[in-house]
Amino acid sequence: MILSVGNCLSALLALTGTLVCAARLGDKPTTLNDHGNFHYLAVQLAPFDKAAEATPSAWEERARAVGDSLGYHVVGRVGELPDYYMFATEKWTTSAGVGPLEVRSEAHLEKERRLHEREIATAPYVVSAKAQIPTIRLHKRGPIPQNERGRPFRLDELRKELGIHDPGFGQQWHLVNTVIIGNDLNVTGVWKQGITGHNATVCFVDDGLDYNNPDLAENFYAEGSYDYNVHVKTPEPKLPEDRHGTRCAGEVAAVRNDVCGVGVAYNAKVSGVRILGGALTEADEAAAINYDYQNNHIYSCSWGPSDDGRSMEAPPQIVTDAVYNGIANGRGGLGSIFVFASGNGAASNDHCNADGYTNSIYTITVGALDRSNTHPVYSEACSAVMIVMYSSSGQKADAIYTTDWPGNGCTDGHGGTSAAAPLASGVYALVLQIRPDLTWRDMQHLTVENAVPVDLTDDGWEKTAVGRPFNNKYGYGKLDAYKLVEAAKRFQHVRPQTHIVSPVAESNKEIPHDFERLDSIISITEEDIKTANMSRIEHITVHVTIEHDSRGDIEMFLVSPHGIVSQLSTFRPRDSDPNGYQNWTLMTVKHWGEDPVGDWKFQVTDRIHPSRKGTLKYWWMTVWGETAPPTVTRPTIPPVSALLPAPNTSTSSASEPSETDADLQPPSLPPLPTSVVSKTTTLARPTATGEPPASETTVPVPTASRASGAYALVFGAAVLGAAGGGFYYIRRKRAADSSVEQDYEFEMLNDDEVDAAFDDEEDERSEMRLVNENRGPIPDRFVLSSMDEEEDEQP
Ligand SMILES: *[C@@H]1O[C@H](CO)[C@@H](O)[C@H](O)[C@H]1NC(C)=O
Ligand SMILES: *[C@@H]1O[C@H](CO)[C@@H](O)[C@H](O)[C@H]1NC(C)=O
Ligand SMILES: *[C@@H]1O[C@H](CO)[C@@H](O)[C@H](O)[C@H]1NC(C)=O
Ligand SMILES: *[C@@H]1O[C@H](CO)[C@@H](O)[C@H](O)[C@H]1NC(C)=O
Ligand SMILES: *[C@@H]1O[C@H](CO)[C@@H](O)[C@H](O)[C@H]1NC(C)=O
Repeated sequence: MILSVGNCLSALLALTGTLVCAARLGDKPTTLNDHGNFHYLAVQLAPFDKAAEATPSAWEERARAVGDSLGYHVVGRVGELPDYYMFATEKWTTSAGVGPLEVRSEAHLEKERRLHEREIATAPYVVSAKAQIPTIRLHKRGPIPQNERGRPFRLDELRKELGIHDPGFGQQWHLVNTVIIGNDLNVTGVWKQGITGHNATVCFVDDGLDYNNPDLAENFYAEGSYDYNVHVKTPEPKLPEDRHGTRCAGEVAAVRNDVCGVGVAYNAKVSGVRILGGALTEADEAAAINYDYQNNHIYSCSWGPSDDGRSMEAPPQIVTDAVYNGIANGRGGLGSIFVFASGNGAASNDHCNADGYTNSIYTITVGALDRSNTHPVYSEACSAVMIVMYSSSGQKADAIYTTDWPGNGCTDGHGGTSAAAPLASGVYALVLQIRPDLTWRDMQHLTVENAVPVDLTDDGWEKTAVGRPFNNKYGYGKLDAYKLVEAAKRFQHVRPQTHIVSPVAESNKEIPHDFERLDSIISITEEDIKTANMSRIEHITVHVTIEHDSRGDIEMFLVSPHGIVSQLSTFRPRDSDPNGYQNWTLMTVKHWGEDPVGDWKFQVTDRIHPSRKGTLKYWWMTVWGETAPPTVTRPTIPPVSALLPAPNTSTSSASEPSETDADLQPPSLPPLPTSVVSKTTTLARPTATGEPPASETTVPVPTASRASGAYALVFGAAVLGAAGGGFYYIRRKRAADSSVEQDYEFEMLNDDEVDAAFDDEEDERSEMRLVNENRGPIPDRFVLSSMDEEEDEQP
C-alpha cells in the first residue's frame, strides 16, 4: 500500500508539477456525506470478460484492488449499481503536506477533484470517475394555488358501503366528483371489489415523508425509506418547506380512517426516499431511485430539472444507468415503474422533451388535467407525455385535497403536475395488487391502450396510425381506474423489447426561415425489421445535433411513413442558449403500434429572428418496439383485398370485439392506410446493411452506439425473457402475419369517447393523413401565455 501511494505521488507530480498527491490513505469517512473533509468520487468499473464472473464479491474485489492501488478509501457500492463504487479521500493533502482546509479556495479544491478524477479514470479496470458534489439540480413540480372553500357533498351511501369515515373525503373531487360527474378517477368501482392497493408499495422520491402522520403511519414502509440528503434511515420532513412529499404520498396511501381524506390506493404501502431536502450528489440520486428496488414497486417522482423554459438537462450518466438498472433488475426483473411529472413550466414555454427524465422511454410521463377536463396552463406538453391526471387548474382554486405536514393536517391546495403524477402511481398500485406480474412495458402498453381521451375539441388531437387519438398536451388521455383495472385483469404480457438503431443522417444544411423547413429522411426497411425481429413500435427516440445561435428558436417534427406528425420541440423564447442541441435525445410515444417500415422525415424549422441562424449537423433515431411472435417470421403480406373487411363491418367488429372469437380466428383487420399496403413492394429492397437509400447522405452509426445498442438489446431481451418465462403467452390471433399488430391495436380502440369524437367512420384515417400533408410542418403550438411567472417558481 505504501508503495502504491508512492507511485501515485510520483505519477501525479510528474503529471502536474505541483499541488497534490491525489490520494493518501488517512482517516476513513465515518459518514457518507462528510463533504467538508473528503472528496467523494463515483467510479465506474470495467466489465468482466465473462459475464458469469461478475458476482457482487468480484465487483467489490475489483473496486478494492483499484482503490488500494491508488490509495483511496472504498466507501461502498453506489446503491444497486453493481459496477459503480464510491471512493473517498481526505481533502487535507496538499503538496506541502498538511494544509488548513479553511485557506483553500474552491478553485484549488476543484483542481484537486479533477486530478483525482484523472488519476482514477486512467487506472486499469476503470471506465470513469466523477467527483460527487452535492448540488441542487432538481425541483419540485408543485405550484400551490389559492384555496377554495370546501363544497357540501352528499356521499353518504358510498361512504357507508366503503366504510369511509375520513372527514375530508367529500372534498376529494379527484376521487368522486359530485359537481362535474365523470371528471374523476372513477375508482369507487375498483374499491368495491376489494382492490385498494394491497401488496403494492409506492416509493416517494421527494423531500420527505411524515410517517408519523396518523393519515400515513399505518401504510408506512420503513425498510424502503431513506434520507439521502442527510444520510439517515428515516425520511421525515426536516425543513419547513418539506411538505411536498407528504402531500404526494397522501394522494396514494392516505389511510381510510377518521383523519383527513383517503388515498387512491388506501391499502398500499408508501415509503419515502428523501432527495429534495437540500443538495445531493449524482451518486446519491442514482442510489435513491433504486432504493430497496425489489420491494419498492413504483417510484413516484414529482420533480426534475428547472422548469424555467431555458434549461435542457438530462440525468447524469450514473442516474441514467440507475434508471436502466431499475427497469432491468427491479421488482425481480419485472422492472421498477417510474412515474414522472411532466413539469410545470408550460407558462414559461417549457417543454418536457427538454427534460431528460421525462423524455426517457423508461419513465411514464404524466401531465396535468384540471377539474373541468381542460389543460392547466402550467402543465408541460410534449410528444413524450403518455397520460394526464387530475390536478389544480392554472387560474382558479380547484386543487387536490390531501394529507399535509406539519401538524397532522390536510390541505386542499396541492397542485401542479406534482399532484398529477402520484394519482397515476396510485392507480398503478391498484393494478399491481391484482397483477403483480406485469412488467414495466406491460404497464406502458396497458396505459396507452386504455387511456381515455379528454377535451376532444382541443385542436392538438390527431389520430395515430393505429387510430388512437394523441395530443402533446394530454398524451393518450387520462386514466380511468376502473377501465384500467378491468383491462389489467385480462392483460397478456407483451413480448420482449427490441430496437432498431438507424444510420446517422448527415445534413450539414442551414435551417431555413420564412416558414420553410429542412427535411431529412431516414428509411426503415423490411430488412431492419427482420434483423431486429420487431413487430410494432413502442417509443421512438430521435438524437439530434444542431448548431444554432439561439437554441429555443428551433422547432422539430418527426413525420412517420403514415404521415403522423410528432412535434418534438416547440419554440422556447427564453432559451437563447448558443450551443444548440448537442446529441440531445427527443422522445415520442405517438407512433405506438405503428408499422415502422418506410421513410421517416425529420423536419426542422425556425420561424423566429431571421438573423439567428443554425445548421442541422446530423440526426438518427432509435425505434423501440416489441419483438415479433416466436416461430413466425414476417411472411409475405396477403393482397390488400384479402385484408380489407367490408367497410361497414369493420366498424362494428371493432366496437364489439369478442374475446374468444378473436383468440381463435384469424384477425379481421382494419382498413390499412395505403402507405402500409404499399410496403409489400419494399420487401425485396436490397438493403442488407440497413443503410437507407435516402436523399440525405448517410454515414454509419458511431461504433460505440451500435455496440452499446446491441448490448442493450441482448441484455434487455435476456432479462425480460427470463422474467416472462413462467407465464409466457403466445397470442394466437397475432400469429397470422405481420399486420396483426394493427388488428390488436384497433381492437383496443373500443371506447365511447373516441367514437363520439371521431365519428367519421371509415376513411378518416386517410383524411387524417391528408390533413397532415396539407397543414404543413407546423401543427398548432401552445398559446404563449402571459401568466405570471411565479407559478413555476413556487415550490
Ligand atoms: C367507471 O366505473 C364504472 C363502474 O364503477 C363502470 O361501469 C364505468 O364503465 C367506468 N367508466 C368508464 C369510462 O370506464
Ligand atoms: C398479497 O400477496 C400474497 C402473497 O403473494 C397473497 O397471498 C395475498 O393474497 C395478496 N393479498 C391481496 C389482498 O391481494
Ligand atoms: C423473435 O422474438 C421472439 C420473441 O418474441 C423469439 O421467440 C424469436 O425467436 C425471435 N426470432 C428471431 C428470428 O430472432
Ligand atoms: C353495408 O351495409 C348496408 C346496409 O347496412 C348493406 O346493404 C351493404 O351491402 C353493406 N355493404 C357491404 C359492402 O357489406
Ligand atoms: C449520443 O447519445 C446517445 C444516446 O443517448 C449515446 O448512445 C451516444 O453515445 C451519444 N453520442 C455521442 C457522440 O455523444
